[in-house]
Amino acid sequence: MSTFKRTSDSLAEASEVQPDLETARKRVGILRDTIRHHDHRYYVMNDPEIGDSQYDLLRVELGELETTFPQLITDDSPTQRVAGEPSVEFDSVEHREPMLSLSNVFGRAELMKWHARLVKLLESNDISFICEPKIDGLAISLVYENGLLSVGATRGDGYRGENITANLRMVRSIPLRIAVDEPPDAIEVRGEVYMSKLVFNQLNTSRKAAGEQLYMNTRNTAAGSLRQLDPNVTASRHLDLFVYQLGWAEGLTPPSTHSEAMTWIANAAFPTNPLTARFENIQEVATFCEQLEHHRKELDYEIDGVVIKIDNLQMQRRLGTVGREPRWATAWKFPAEQAITRLKEIEISIGRTGVLTPFAVLEPIFVGGATVGMATLHNMAHIQELDIRSGDDVIIQRAGDVIPQVVGPVLSKRKGRRLSRFAMPKHCPVCGAGVQHDPEQAAYYCPNRECIAQMSRIVEHYTGREALDIEGFGETLSRRLVELGFVNTLSDLYSLPKQREQLLALEGIGEKTLDRLFTNLEASKQQPLQRLLLGLSIPHVGIETARALSQNFGTIENIRNASFEEIEAIDGIGPVVSKAIYAYFQDQAASALIDRLIAAGVRVDEEFTTKRGPFESLSIVATGSLSRWSRNEIEVLVTRLGGHLSGNVSKTTSFVIAGQGGGNKLEKAKMLDVEIIDEEEFVSRYSEWLD
Ligand code: IVH
Repeated sequence: MSTFKRTSDSLAEASEVQPDLETARKRVGILRDTIRHHDHRYYVMNDPEIGDSQYDLLRVELGELETTFPQLITDDSPTQRVAGEPSVEFDSVEHREPMLSLSNVFGRAELMKWHARLVKLLESNDISFICEPKIDGLAISLVYENGLLSVGATRGDGYRGENITANLRMVRSIPLRIAVDEPPDAIEVRGEVYMSKLVFNQLNTSRKAAGEQLYMNTRNTAAGSLRQLDPNVTASRHLDLFVYQLGWAEGLTPPSTHSEAMTWIANAAFPTNPLTARFENIQEVATFCEQLEHHRKELDYEIDGVVIKIDNLQMQRRLGTVGREPRWATAWKFPAEQAITRLKEIEISIGRTGVLTPFAVLEPIFVGGATVGMATLHNMAHIQELDIRSGDDVIIQRAGDVIPQVVGPVLSKRKGRRLSRFAMPKHCPVCGAGVQHDPEQAAYYCPNRECIAQMSRIVEHYTGREALDIEGFGETLSRRLVELGFVNTLSDLYSLPKQREQLLALEGIGEKTLDRLFTNLEASKQQPLQRLLLGLSIPHVGIETARALSQNFGTIENIRNASFEEIEAIDGIGPVVSKAIYAYFQDQAASALIDRLIAAGVRVDEEFTTKRGPFESLSIVATGSLSRWSRNEIEVLVTRLGGHLSGNVSKTTSFVIAGQGGGNKLEKAKMLDVEIIDEEEFVSRYSEWLD
């Protein structure tokens, strides 16, 4: 039996008898408000008013009442921050308004240029700015309907994110309910979820004790923690949030400045960053950025810059966005963090085009929010220019996700030590072939296309996500198959099914794995030409060039027959790249490989002819849910017929296809006088193209 047991809190009325429903209802309401208040003090303000045991008593009491009167349980009760069942995958959600990125400035001079542009565009010098730390975490969107948290999503590609509501409910500083008397009908706030340095260090300490691999940095760990299929795991990671923007709102008097919006947000019990500051003068903005940069290490969370926003929302609207970046905001990025450590050795890695790339093996050191044990040395010229030697103490730097770099040796520390200059090996350290030097490209390379190191990389790349996307290979299996002689050239991949028995004899490879691998291999034969072109590891051919080749020539036969001039005539392909492509297709071994791939049944033409069809040069927006197509399918359809599916309505939008429940985009289309058609109309207009 559940009872009121305590009077530890002034709100409680002692009673040893079971309360009736009405008394319980009132008490439950009071307890919830009290707990929310203390949650806010603790998780948001970091300034608790009561001790843990007092707080626990409140929660126990609420829990007991809810057990006795389950009809009183509501979704937003603090007791309902419990993890649901693990999901299999996340649903995708379309953002009503795209989640944008930010342009960058490095330093005062660039900031002044940015400011000058604004003054010109706005024809005014009277602009106020808000500066906020740029939190190094993950952007999220939180939608509240009638005051209750309804959808929480990741940023995704800016237009669509993943629905991670169950996990976000586990973040204690995210209110489940908006704490204002009359919440707006619907509202979206945006912010950054992060892991504090303290939590990160505690997590790694316990992982170390358990002999588990340590996490790299706070951002990746926060991202991993949020994208857990099991919300219990998210709950255990103690993530935090700073809200930095009001998205869209229905039933709220529109604020006229960003600071006004942020005041409303803070009053509604969302955590906002206390270091936010407002300036009327751009020089003061720069000084603030420099100061924050100076003090960043003292903060308990990682920041990678300062976000500078124009405060006046009308000015923001007037300036609008270019591409994916608003003109009314920018990020003052901090320079990469540097540290000094010992370079233990210079080693060589061999890329898929055979190029020998030197890299530094370092005494591990913590820099830029991560432990670094290796850093790139780029090429021989870079090493010579800086005279970097094995055994040197070197300055290394790392910023964000960029690969760590060796800036140079600390020459004063070399005194008295005899360190020899670095020389490129004369022979490939893996296959022993004579290393060749291409002075024009400043590159050294192993000419043996069958070199195991090179071939493993080629297979790994061919099967990779962006190329043929054959799941199940990856670095380890690719290397194993090459080392054991199963794959000597790419076309051997398609003969693997004939070697089933021999493959089954390998450790860790079972029937199921093989079946899956073979199904994926078979499916890859249908991938369009541009993926094949990327997968072949033709020197200098990346995604864009592969796409351009595919679109211009349509089939691999046409590329094989193309002259150097015809290749060079393609927009975006310069002479160096054309030369490499031409040389590749003239090469006998490459030609034989392509013949074998064709014989294996690999598709060698474009999936579809783009830029031809009824939507040629049109920009189309789809909103709401369509009954015939998923978002992905409509995108493929529009692209196939020559158009571009945009996530954003603008003056240049050709028309909007309106499905069930399209909201803001329809409003915007009406405002801009853009034609809106429903799905039926769309189908009847373009029926001949739609089968
Ligand atoms: S404002 C258009 N404010 O930075 C406005 N973003 O590069 C875009 N970020 O995806 C967001 N702290 O994840 C804004 N105080 C802050 C921020 C912030 C971190 C992140 C956010 C965004 C990225 C843009």
